[in-house]
Amino acid sequence: MDADGHVPWWRDAVIYQIYPRSFQDTGGDGVGDLPGIERRLDHLAWLGVDAIWVSPFYRSPMADFGYDVSDYCDVDPLFGTLADFDRLIASVHQRGMRLLVDWVPNHTSDRHPWFLDSRSSRSSPRRGWYHWRDGRGDGPPNNWRAAFGGRAWTLDELTGQWYLHLFLPQQPDLNWSNPEVVAAMHEVLRFWLDRGVDGFRIDVVHCIGKDPAFPDQPAELGEIDRVGIQNEPATHELIRGFRRLVDAYPGQRTTVGEVQLGDLEALASFYGAGDELHMVFNFLPLRAAWTRPAWWGMIERVERDLPAGAWPTWVLSNHDEPRVRSRLGSDAAARSAALLLLTLRGTPFIYQGDELGLEDAVVPESRRVDPGGRDGCRAPMPWDRGPGHGWPVRDPWLPWPPQAGTRNVEAERDDPGSMLHLYRRLLAARRGSAALRRGDLVLREGAGDVLAFERNCEGDRRLVVVNFGNRSSSIRLEPGWVVEVSTGPEGDPERLPPHGGALLRPG
Ligand code: GLC
Repeated sequence: MDADGHVPWWRDAVIYQIYPRSFQDTGGDGVGDLPGIERRLDHLAWLGVDAIWVSPFYRSPMADFGYDVSDYCDVDPLFGTLADFDRLIASVHQRGMRLLVDWVPNHTSDRHPWFLDSRSSRSSPRRGWYHWRDGRGDGPPNNWRAAFGGRAWTLDELTGQWYLHLFLPQQPDLNWSNPEVVAAMHEVLRFWLDRGVDGFRIDVVHCIGKDPAFPDQPAELGEIDRVGIQNEPATHELIRGFRRLVDAYPGQRTTVGEVQLGDLEALASFYGAGDELHMVFNFLPLRAAWTRPAWWGMIERVERDLPAGAWPTWVLSNHDEPRVRSRLGSDAAARSAALLLLTLRGTPFIYQGDELGLEDAVVPESRRVDPGGRDGCRAPMPWDRGPGHGWPVRDPWLPWPPQAGTRNVEAERDDPGSMLHLYRRLLAARRGSAALRRGDLVLREGAGDVLAFERNCEGDRRLVVVNFGNRSSSIRLEPGWVVEVSTGPEGDPERLPPHGGALLRPG
Protein backbone atom coordinates (compact mmCIF):
# COMPACT_ATOMS: atom_id res chain seq x y z
CA MET A 1 0.00 0.00 0.00
CA ASP A 2 1.18 3.54 -0.61
CA ALA A 3 1.30 6.29 2.00
CA ASP A 4 -2.36 7.14 1.37
CA GLY A 5 -3.49 3.57 1.93
CA HIS A 6 -4.20 2.90 -1.76
CA VAL A 7 -3.40 -0.44 -3.29
CA PRO A 8 -1.14 0.15 -6.30
CA TRP A 9 -2.63 -1.08 -9.59
CA TRP A 10 -0.06 -3.83 -10.14
CA ARG A 11 -1.12 -5.64 -6.97
CA ASP A 12 -4.65 -5.91 -8.29
CA ALA A 13 -3.57 -6.71 -11.84
CA VAL A 14 -3.27 -9.80 -13.98
CA ILE A 15 -0.33 -9.37 -16.36
CA TYR A 16 -0.16 -11.05 -19.76
CA GLN A 17 3.19 -11.76 -21.42
CA ILE A 18 3.52 -11.16 -25.14
CA TYR A 19 6.41 -12.72 -27.02
CA PRO A 20 6.22 -10.36 -29.99
CA ARG A 21 7.81 -12.65 -32.61
CA SER A 22 4.97 -15.11 -32.10
CA PHE A 23 1.89 -13.06 -31.30
CA GLN A 24 0.64 -11.67 -34.61
CA ASP A 25 2.38 -10.88 -37.88
CA THR A 26 1.04 -8.05 -40.03
CA GLY A 27 4.05 -7.48 -42.31
CA GLY A 28 3.95 -10.90 -43.99
CA ASP A 29 7.45 -12.03 -43.02
CA GLY A 30 6.22 -14.75 -40.68
CA VAL A 31 7.40 -12.87 -37.58
CA GLY A 32 5.02 -11.04 -35.26
CA ASP A 33 5.28 -7.27 -34.89
CA LEU A 34 4.04 -4.28 -32.88
CA PRO A 35 1.10 -3.45 -35.20
CA GLY A 36 0.10 -7.11 -34.73
CA ILE A 37 -0.09 -6.63 -30.98
CA GLU A 38 -2.21 -3.53 -31.45
CA ARG A 39 -4.52 -5.45 -33.75
CA ARG A 40 -5.16 -8.08 -31.10
CA LEU A 41 -5.72 -5.85 -28.09
CA ASP A 42 -9.44 -6.49 -28.28
CA HIS A 43 -8.77 -10.16 -27.55
CA LEU A 44 -6.90 -9.17 -24.41
CA ALA A 45 -9.57 -6.71 -23.33
CA TRP A 46 -12.25 -9.38 -23.90
CA LEU A 47 -10.19 -11.87 -21.91
CA GLY A 48 -9.95 -9.34 -19.09
CA VAL A 49 -6.24 -8.86 -18.45
CA ASP A 50 -5.10 -5.60 -16.89
CA ALA A 51 -1.62 -5.21 -18.31
CA ILE A 52 0.73 -6.60 -20.90
CA TRP A 53 4.47 -7.18 -20.72
CA VAL A 54 6.10 -7.27 -24.13
CA SER A 55 9.38 -9.20 -24.51
CA PRO A 56 12.18 -7.24 -26.29
CA PHE A 57 11.41 -5.55 -29.60
CA TYR A 58 14.54 -3.35 -29.67
CA ARG A 59 17.18 -3.35 -32.38
CA SER A 60 18.97 -6.65 -32.17
CA PRO A 61 21.01 -9.06 -34.30
CA MET A 62 18.68 -11.73 -32.79
CA ALA A 63 21.36 -14.13 -31.60
CA ASP A 64 19.06 -14.57 -28.56
CA PHE A 65 15.89 -13.38 -30.33
CA GLY A 66 15.94 -9.86 -28.96
CA TYR A 67 17.64 -10.44 -25.60
CA ASP A 68 20.85 -9.27 -27.32
CA VAL A 69 20.13 -5.58 -27.72
CA SER A 70 22.14 -3.35 -30.06
CA ASP A 71 20.04 -0.20 -29.49
CA TYR A 72 17.88 0.09 -26.37
CA CYS A 73 16.07 3.16 -27.63
CA ASP A 74 14.79 2.03 -31.00
CA VAL A 75 12.46 -0.62 -32.40
CA ASP A 76 13.96 -3.33 -34.60
CA PRO A 77 12.62 -2.95 -38.17
CA LEU A 78 11.41 -6.54 -37.89
CA PHE A 79 8.89 -5.39 -35.29
CA GLY A 80 8.06 -1.93 -36.66
CA THR A 81 9.00 1.61 -35.68
CA LEU A 82 8.92 3.90 -32.67
CA ALA A 83 5.76 5.41 -34.17
CA ASP A 84 4.19 1.92 -34.08
CA PHE A 85 5.19 1.68 -30.44
CA ASP A 86 3.60 5.05 -29.66
CA ARG A 87 0.39 3.94 -31.33
CA LEU A 88 0.46 0.66 -29.44
CA ILE A 89 0.87 2.26 -26.04
CA ALA A 90 -1.86 4.79 -26.79
CA SER A 91 -4.23 1.95 -27.77
CA VAL A 92 -3.34 -0.01 -24.65
CA HIS A 93 -4.06 3.00 -22.45
CA GLN A 94 -7.25 3.79 -24.32
CA ARG A 95 -8.57 0.39 -23.26
CA GLY A 96 -7.66 1.07 -19.65
CA MET A 97 -4.78 -1.40 -19.74
CA ARG A 98 -1.08 -0.87 -18.95
CA LEU A 99 2.10 -1.78 -20.71
CA LEU A 100 5.40 -3.06 -19.35
CA VAL A 101 8.49 -3.35 -21.51
CA ASP A 102 11.43 -5.70 -21.08
CA TRP A 103 14.72 -4.16 -20.00
CA VAL A 104 17.93 -6.14 -20.42
CA PRO A 105 20.55 -4.57 -18.14
CA ASN A 106 23.01 -7.43 -17.66
CA HIS A 107 24.37 -7.56 -21.20
CA THR A 108 24.18 -5.88 -24.58
CA SER A 109 24.65 -7.35 -28.02
CA ASP A 110 28.25 -7.66 -29.20
CA ARG A 111 27.12 -5.33 -32.02
CA HIS A 112 26.04 -2.57 -29.66
CA PRO A 113 28.12 0.55 -30.43
CA TRP A 114 29.22 0.56 -26.76
CA PHE A 115 30.79 -2.86 -27.15
CA LEU A 116 32.25 -2.17 -30.58
CA ASP A 117 33.94 0.84 -29.06
CA SER A 118 34.99 -1.08 -25.94
CA ARG A 119 36.61 -3.89 -27.88
CA SER A 120 38.38 -1.56 -30.34
CA SER A 121 41.43 -1.00 -28.12
CA ARG A 122 42.63 -1.33 -24.54
CA SER A 123 42.61 2.45 -24.30
CA SER A 124 39.07 2.95 -25.63
CA PRO A 125 37.09 5.34 -23.39
CA ARG A 126 34.48 2.61 -23.12
CA ARG A 127 36.93 -0.18 -22.30
CA GLY A 128 35.69 -0.16 -18.71
CA TRP A 129 32.03 -0.52 -19.74
CA TYR A 130 32.48 -4.28 -20.03
CA HIS A 131 34.49 -6.86 -18.08
CA TRP A 132 37.87 -7.28 -19.78
CA ARG A 133 40.52 -9.42 -18.11
CA ASP A 134 43.82 -11.04 -18.90
CA GLY A 135 43.70 -14.81 -19.11
CA ARG A 136 45.49 -17.26 -16.84
CA GLY A 137 48.18 -18.69 -19.06
CA ASP A 138 46.40 -19.68 -22.25
CA GLY A 139 43.09 -20.09 -20.47
CA PRO A 140 40.24 -17.81 -19.43
CA PRO A 141 40.39 -15.63 -16.29
CA ASN A 142 38.29 -18.07 -14.25
CA ASN A 143 36.23 -21.26 -14.51
CA TRP A 144 32.74 -19.73 -14.90
CA ARG A 145 30.35 -21.42 -17.32
CA ALA A 146 27.85 -19.61 -19.53
CA ALA A 147 24.15 -20.33 -19.89
CA PHE A 148 23.52 -22.39 -23.07
CA GLY A 149 26.91 -24.09 -22.59
CA GLY A 150 30.58 -23.30 -22.88
CA ARG A 151 32.73 -20.96 -20.89
CA ALA A 152 31.67 -17.50 -19.80
CA TRP A 153 34.73 -15.80 -21.32
CA THR A 154 35.76 -15.21 -24.91
CA LEU A 155 39.24 -14.18 -25.99
CA ASP A 156 39.30 -11.17 -28.26
CA GLU A 157 42.28 -11.54 -30.58
CA LEU A 158 42.56 -7.82 -31.31
CA THR A 159 43.52 -6.78 -27.78
CA GLY A 160 44.52 -10.17 -26.36
CA GLN A 161 42.07 -9.93 -23.47
CA TRP A 162 38.99 -11.93 -22.51
CA TYR A 163 35.48 -10.51 -22.05
CA LEU A 164 32.79 -11.90 -19.79
CA HIS A 165 29.44 -13.16 -21.04
CA LEU A 166 27.13 -15.11 -18.73
CA PHE A 167 25.05 -15.98 -21.82
CA LEU A 168 26.17 -16.26 -25.47
CA PRO A 169 29.49 -14.79 -26.65
CA GLN A 170 27.25 -12.37 -28.60
CA GLN A 171 25.95 -11.05 -25.22
CA PRO A 172 28.85 -9.37 -23.39
CA ASP A 173 28.11 -8.43 -19.76
CA LEU A 174 28.04 -4.74 -18.91
CA ASN A 175 30.24 -3.55 -16.05
CA TRP A 176 27.78 -2.03 -13.60
CA SER A 177 30.54 -0.94 -11.23
CA ASN A 178 31.27 1.78 -13.81
CA PRO A 179 29.17 4.90 -13.08
CA GLU A 180 29.03 5.72 -16.80
CA VAL A 181 27.22 2.45 -17.44
CA VAL A 182 24.78 3.21 -14.63
CA ALA A 183 24.10 6.66 -16.09
CA ALA A 184 23.69 5.36 -19.66
CA MET A 185 21.30 2.61 -18.60
CA HIS A 186 19.30 5.00 -16.40
CA GLU A 187 18.86 7.08 -19.54
CA VAL A 188 17.31 4.05 -21.20
CA LEU A 189 14.78 3.73 -18.35
CA ARG A 190 13.93 7.40 -18.69
CA PHE A 191 13.54 7.09 -22.46
CA TRP A 192 10.75 4.51 -22.05
CA LEU A 193 9.20 6.08 -18.95
CA ASP A 194 8.97 9.37 -20.84
CA ARG A 195 7.20 7.50 -23.65
CA GLY A 196 4.61 6.42 -21.13
CA VAL A 197 5.41 2.81 -20.21
CA ASP A 198 3.90 1.63 -16.93
CA GLY A 199 6.91 -0.37 -15.88
CA PHE A 200 9.64 -2.84 -16.68
CA ARG A 201 10.24 -6.54 -16.62
CA ILE A 202 13.94 -6.67 -15.78
CA ASP A 203 15.95 -9.46 -17.37
CA VAL A 204 18.25 -11.57 -15.11
CA VAL A 205 18.56 -8.63 -12.76
CA HIS A 206 20.29 -10.72 -10.08
CA CYS A 207 23.34 -11.05 -12.35
CA ILE A 208 24.33 -7.40 -12.77
CA GLY A 209 26.69 -7.01 -9.78
CA LYS A 210 30.05 -8.80 -10.14
CA ASP A 211 32.88 -9.50 -7.71
CA PRO A 212 35.79 -7.57 -9.31
CA ALA A 213 38.18 -10.32 -8.17
CA PHE A 214 36.28 -12.84 -10.33
CA PRO A 215 37.05 -15.80 -8.07
CA ASP A 216 36.79 -19.34 -9.42
CA GLN A 217 33.56 -21.13 -8.73
CA PRO A 218 34.08 -23.87 -6.09
CA ALA A 219 34.82 -27.25 -7.68
CA GLU A 220 31.83 -28.88 -5.94
CA LEU A 221 29.52 -26.76 -8.10
CA GLY A 222 30.95 -28.55 -11.12
CA GLU A 223 29.80 -27.37 -14.53
CA ILE A 224 26.72 -25.52 -13.24
CA ASP A 225 26.31 -22.28 -15.18
CA ARG A 226 26.91 -18.99 -13.46
CA VAL A 227 23.44 -17.52 -13.99
CA GLY A 228 21.90 -19.78 -11.35
CA ILE A 229 24.36 -18.72 -8.63
CA GLN A 230 25.48 -15.18 -9.45
CA ASN A 231 24.42 -13.19 -6.38
CA GLU A 232 26.57 -10.22 -5.34
CA PRO A 233 25.63 -7.74 -2.61
CA ALA A 234 26.51 -4.88 -5.01
CA THR A 235 23.44 -5.72 -7.09
CA HIS A 236 21.08 -4.50 -4.40
CA GLU A 237 22.41 -0.94 -4.35
CA LEU A 238 22.08 -0.83 -8.15
CA ILE A 239 18.47 -1.98 -7.90
CA ARG A 240 17.74 0.68 -5.28
CA GLY A 241 18.96 3.16 -7.88
CA PHE A 242 16.43 1.87 -10.45
CA ARG A 243 13.70 1.97 -7.86
CA ARG A 244 14.35 5.60 -6.95
CA LEU A 245 14.33 6.54 -10.62
CA VAL A 246 11.10 4.68 -11.41
CA ASP A 247 9.29 5.86 -8.27
CA ALA A 248 10.09 9.47 -9.11
CA TYR A 249 7.69 9.20 -12.07
CA PRO A 250 3.98 9.74 -11.47
CA GLY A 251 1.45 6.98 -12.06
CA GLN A 252 2.77 4.06 -9.99
CA ARG A 253 5.24 2.73 -12.53
CA THR A 254 6.39 -0.72 -11.54
CA THR A 255 9.20 -3.26 -11.85
CA VAL A 256 9.20 -7.03 -11.89
CA GLY A 257 12.55 -8.76 -11.78
CA GLU A 258 13.69 -12.04 -13.21
CA VAL A 259 15.81 -13.66 -10.50
CA GLN A 260 17.05 -17.10 -11.51
CA LEU A 261 18.06 -18.18 -8.02
CA GLY A 262 16.40 -21.34 -6.78
CA ASP A 263 15.68 -20.55 -3.16
CA LEU A 264 12.95 -18.34 -1.93
CA GLU A 265 15.12 -16.59 0.63
CA ALA A 266 17.49 -15.32 -2.05
CA LEU A 267 14.53 -14.28 -4.14
CA ALA A 268 12.94 -12.48 -1.22
CA SER A 269 16.05 -10.36 -0.74
CA PHE A 270 15.37 -8.63 -4.08
CA TYR A 271 12.34 -6.89 -2.62
CA GLY A 272 14.77 -5.16 -0.23
CA ALA A 273 13.06 -3.22 2.52
CA GLY A 274 10.38 -2.11 0.08
CA ASP A 275 13.09 -0.15 -1.74
CA GLU A 276 14.19 -2.63 -4.42
CA LEU A 277 11.93 -4.45 -6.90
CA HIS A 278 8.18 -3.99 -6.67
CA MET A 279 7.77 -7.64 -7.67
CA VAL A 280 10.02 -10.62 -8.26
CA PHE A 281 8.95 -13.53 -10.45
CA ASN A 282 8.13 -16.63 -8.47
CA PHE A 283 9.19 -19.52 -10.70
CA LEU A 284 8.56 -22.24 -8.11
CA PRO A 285 5.43 -23.51 -9.93
CA LEU A 286 7.57 -24.21 -13.01
CA ARG A 287 9.41 -26.89 -11.07
CA ALA A 288 6.68 -28.11 -8.72
CA ALA A 289 5.40 -31.64 -9.19
CA TRP A 290 1.65 -31.87 -9.75
CA THR A 291 0.89 -33.26 -6.30
CA ARG A 292 -0.92 -31.90 -3.32
CA PRO A 293 2.14 -31.98 -1.01
CA ALA A 294 4.29 -30.15 -3.58
CA TRP A 295 1.75 -27.35 -4.06
CA TRP A 296 0.86 -27.17 -0.38
CA GLY A 297 4.54 -26.84 0.54
CA MET A 298 5.16 -24.21 -2.11
CA ILE A 299 2.16 -22.06 -1.12
CA GLU A 300 3.09 -22.36 2.54
CA ARG A 301 6.66 -21.26 1.85
CA VAL A 302 5.61 -18.28 -0.24
CA GLU A 303 3.22 -17.19 2.52
CA ARG A 304 5.85 -17.70 5.22
CA ASP A 305 9.16 -16.70 3.66
CA LEU A 306 8.36 -13.52 1.78
CA PRO A 307 8.81 -10.60 4.16
CA ALA A 308 5.79 -8.52 5.10
CA GLY A 309 5.14 -6.05 2.32
CA ALA A 310 6.77 -8.23 -0.36
CA TRP A 311 3.99 -8.86 -2.83
CA PRO A 312 4.07 -12.40 -4.30
CA THR A 313 3.77 -13.32 -7.97
CA TRP A 314 2.82 -16.56 -9.72
CA VAL A 315 4.11 -17.89 -13.04
CA LEU A 316 3.07 -21.08 -14.85
CA SER A 317 4.87 -20.60 -18.17
CA ASN A 318 7.01 -18.16 -20.10
CA HIS A 319 9.13 -17.98 -23.24
CA ASP A 320 11.99 -19.89 -21.58
CA GLU A 321 10.20 -22.93 -20.22
CA PRO A 322 8.03 -25.81 -21.45
CA ARG A 323 4.39 -24.76 -21.29
CA VAL A 324 2.28 -25.75 -18.30
CA ARG A 325 -0.05 -27.84 -20.50
CA SER A 326 2.95 -29.81 -21.79
CA ARG A 327 4.46 -30.25 -18.35
CA LEU A 328 1.29 -31.41 -16.67
CA GLY A 329 0.19 -33.67 -19.49
CA SER A 330 -3.59 -33.18 -19.35
CA ASP A 331 -6.19 -30.51 -19.94
CA ALA A 332 -7.77 -31.27 -16.59
CA ALA A 333 -4.56 -30.53 -14.67
CA ALA A 334 -3.79 -27.46 -16.80
CA ARG A 335 -7.26 -26.14 -16.01
CA SER A 336 -6.74 -26.56 -12.29
CA ALA A 337 -3.31 -24.94 -12.59
CA ALA A 338 -5.06 -21.93 -14.17
CA LEU A 339 -7.49 -21.89 -11.24
CA LEU A 340 -4.56 -21.81 -8.82
CA LEU A 341 -2.65 -19.17 -10.79
CA LEU A 342 -5.62 -16.81 -10.71
CA THR A 343 -6.74 -17.38 -7.12
CA LEU A 344 -3.50 -17.54 -5.12
CA ARG A 345 -2.34 -14.44 -3.26
CA GLY A 346 -0.22 -12.28 -5.55
CA THR A 347 0.02 -10.97 -9.09
CA PRO A 348 -0.43 -13.69 -11.74
CA PHE A 349 1.47 -13.68 -15.04
CA ILE A 350 -0.19 -15.41 -17.99
CA TYR A 351 2.03 -16.43 -20.90
CA GLN A 352 0.40 -15.87 -24.31
CA GLY A 353 -1.35 -19.01 -25.49
CA ASP A 354 -1.69 -20.64 -22.09
CA GLU A 355 -5.25 -19.28 -22.14
CA LEU A 356 -5.81 -21.58 -25.15
CA GLY A 357 -4.25 -24.56 -23.40
CA LEU A 358 -1.49 -24.66 -26.00
CA GLU A 359 1.15 -27.33 -25.84
CA ASP A 360 4.73 -26.82 -26.97
CA ALA A 361 5.22 -27.21 -30.69
CA VAL A 362 7.15 -30.20 -31.92
CA VAL A 363 9.97 -28.53 -33.80
CA PRO A 364 11.89 -30.71 -36.25
CA GLU A 365 15.62 -30.45 -36.04
CA SER A 366 15.86 -28.63 -39.35
CA ARG A 367 13.74 -25.78 -37.95
CA ARG A 368 15.31 -25.39 -34.53
CA VAL A 369 16.71 -21.91 -34.06
CA ASP A 370 17.14 -21.17 -30.36
CA PRO A 371 20.58 -21.80 -28.83
CA GLY A 372 18.80 -22.55 -25.54
CA GLY A 373 16.43 -25.20 -26.98
CA ARG A 374 13.30 -23.16 -26.17
CA ASP A 375 11.58 -23.12 -29.56
CA GLY A 376 8.62 -25.29 -28.55
CA CYS A 377 7.04 -22.81 -26.14
CA ARG A 378 7.61 -19.94 -28.59
CA ALA A 379 5.39 -21.32 -31.36
CA PRO A 380 3.06 -18.75 -32.95
CA MET A 381 -0.40 -17.91 -31.56
CA PRO A 382 -3.17 -19.45 -33.67
CA TRP A 383 -6.00 -16.92 -33.96
CA ASP A 384 -8.46 -18.76 -36.18
CA ARG A 385 -9.28 -22.08 -37.80
CA GLY A 386 -7.92 -21.17 -41.26
CA PRO A 387 -4.67 -22.58 -42.65
CA GLY A 388 -2.68 -19.49 -41.68
CA HIS A 389 -4.51 -19.20 -38.33
CA GLY A 390 -4.90 -15.44 -38.72
CA TRP A 391 -1.32 -14.88 -39.86
CA PRO A 392 -0.63 -13.53 -43.36
CA VAL A 393 1.64 -16.54 -44.06
CA ARG A 394 0.93 -20.24 -43.71
CA ASP A 395 4.28 -21.07 -42.27
CA PRO A 396 5.61 -18.60 -39.71
CA TRP A 397 9.13 -18.56 -38.26
CA LEU A 398 8.31 -21.57 -36.05
CA PRO A 399 5.80 -24.37 -36.66
CA TRP A 400 2.30 -24.17 -35.17
CA PRO A 401 1.57 -25.73 -31.81
CA PRO A 402 -0.30 -29.07 -31.84
CA GLN A 403 -4.00 -29.05 -32.73
CA ALA A 404 -3.97 -25.43 -33.88
CA GLY A 405 -7.11 -26.20 -35.91
CA THR A 406 -9.10 -26.52 -32.69
CA ARG A 407 -6.89 -24.77 -30.18
CA ASN A 408 -7.18 -21.28 -31.55
CA VAL A 409 -8.90 -18.13 -30.36
CA GLU A 410 -11.81 -18.34 -32.82
CA ALA A 411 -12.72 -21.96 -32.06
CA GLU A 412 -12.37 -21.54 -28.32
CA ARG A 413 -14.44 -18.38 -28.25
CA ASP A 414 -17.24 -20.41 -29.83
CA ASP A 415 -17.00 -23.09 -27.15
CA PRO A 416 -18.14 -22.08 -23.66
CA GLY A 417 -16.41 -25.15 -22.24
CA SER A 418 -12.98 -24.18 -23.62
CA MET A 419 -9.84 -23.30 -21.71
CA LEU A 420 -10.21 -19.76 -23.06
CA HIS A 421 -13.62 -19.32 -21.45
CA LEU A 422 -12.33 -20.81 -18.21
CA TYR A 423 -9.55 -18.19 -18.10
CA ARG A 424 -12.09 -15.47 -18.86
CA ARG A 425 -14.43 -16.62 -16.11
CA LEU A 426 -11.58 -16.80 -13.61
CA LEU A 427 -10.38 -13.32 -14.55
CA ALA A 428 -13.89 -11.96 -14.12
CA ALA A 429 -14.27 -13.70 -10.76
CA ARG A 430 -10.96 -12.26 -9.63
CA ARG A 431 -11.93 -8.77 -10.71
CA GLY A 432 -15.19 -9.09 -8.82
CA SER A 433 -13.70 -10.27 -5.54
CA ALA A 434 -11.59 -8.24 -3.14
CA ALA A 435 -10.81 -11.51 -1.35
CA LEU A 436 -9.15 -12.95 -4.45
CA ARG A 437 -7.23 -9.81 -5.27
CA ARG A 438 -6.19 -8.66 -1.84
CA GLY A 439 -7.35 -11.08 0.78
CA ASP A 440 -5.20 -13.15 3.07
CA LEU A 441 -4.73 -16.82 2.32
CA VAL A 442 -5.36 -19.67 4.73
CA LEU A 443 -4.50 -23.23 3.76
CA ARG A 444 -7.00 -25.71 5.05
CA GLU A 445 -5.91 -28.93 6.64
CA GLY A 446 -7.46 -31.93 4.98
CA ALA A 447 -6.76 -35.40 3.83
CA GLY A 448 -6.18 -37.12 0.53
CA ASP A 449 -5.39 -35.41 -2.72
CA VAL A 450 -7.50 -32.30 -2.27
CA LEU A 451 -5.82 -28.98 -1.60
CA ALA A 452 -8.07 -26.28 -0.22
CA PHE A 453 -7.46 -22.69 0.76
CA GLU A 454 -9.58 -19.77 1.74
CA ARG A 455 -9.16 -16.13 0.80
CA ASN A 456 -10.66 -13.44 3.02
CA CYS A 457 -10.88 -9.68 2.77
CA GLU A 458 -13.15 -7.69 5.06
CA GLY A 459 -16.10 -10.03 4.88
CA ASP A 460 -15.56 -11.10 1.27
CA ARG A 461 -14.64 -14.79 1.19
CA ARG A 462 -13.70 -17.38 -1.41
CA LEU A 463 -12.77 -21.03 -1.14
CA VAL A 464 -10.59 -22.84 -3.69
CA VAL A 465 -10.45 -26.63 -3.92
CA VAL A 466 -8.28 -28.69 -6.26
CA ASN A 467 -8.08 -32.45 -6.55
CA PHE A 468 -4.53 -33.46 -7.49
CA GLY A 469 -5.43 -37.14 -7.69
CA ASN A 470 -6.15 -39.45 -10.60
CA ARG A 471 -9.47 -40.45 -9.06
CA SER A 472 -12.51 -38.48 -8.00
CA SER A 473 -12.34 -37.19 -4.45
CA SER A 474 -15.09 -36.32 -2.02
CA ILE A 475 -14.87 -33.22 0.09
CA ARG A 476 -17.05 -32.02 2.93
CA LEU A 477 -18.13 -28.42 2.54
CA GLU A 478 -19.75 -26.40 5.25
CA PRO A 479 -23.24 -25.48 4.13
CA GLY A 480 -23.56 -22.26 2.21
CA TRP A 481 -20.71 -22.51 -0.32
CA VAL A 482 -21.75 -22.42 -3.97
CA VAL A 483 -19.63 -22.94 -7.06
CA GLU A 484 -18.60 -19.71 -8.77
CA VAL A 485 -16.24 -21.25 -11.35
CA SER A 486 -15.60 -24.92 -11.94
CA THR A 487 -12.70 -26.23 -14.02
CA GLY A 488 -14.90 -28.85 -15.67
CA PRO A 489 -18.58 -29.35 -16.34
CA GLU A 490 -20.42 -28.34 -13.23
CA GLY A 491 -21.32 -31.29 -11.05
CA ASP A 492 -21.69 -32.02 -7.38
CA PRO A 493 -19.35 -29.55 -5.61
CA GLU A 494 -18.59 -32.18 -2.97
CA ARG A 495 -17.33 -34.63 -5.60
CA LEU A 496 -14.26 -33.41 -7.51
CA PRO A 497 -13.29 -35.30 -10.69
CA PRO A 498 -9.66 -36.34 -11.28
CA HIS A 499 -7.52 -33.15 -11.39
CA GLY A 500 -10.68 -31.06 -11.16
CA GLY A 501 -11.08 -27.93 -9.12
CA ALA A 502 -13.52 -25.21 -8.20
CA LEU A 503 -13.74 -21.69 -6.90
CA LEU A 504 -16.56 -21.32 -4.37
CA ARG A 505 -18.27 -18.32 -2.82
CA PRO A 506 -20.74 -18.02 0.01
CA GLY A 507 -24.23 -18.61 -1.41
C1 GLC B 1 16.39 -14.21 -19.61
C2 GLC B 1 15.39 -14.27 -20.74
C3 GLC B 1 15.90 -15.27 -21.74
C4 GLC B 1 17.24 -14.81 -22.26
C5 GLC B 1 18.20 -14.54 -21.12
C6 GLC B 1 19.38 -13.75 -21.59
O1 GLC B 1 16.50 -15.39 -18.92
O2 GLC B 1 14.13 -14.58 -20.24
O3 GLC B 1 15.00 -15.46 -22.80
O4 GLC B 1 17.78 -15.78 -23.10
O5 GLC B 1 17.63 -13.79 -20.08
O6 GLC B 1 19.01 -12.43 -21.84
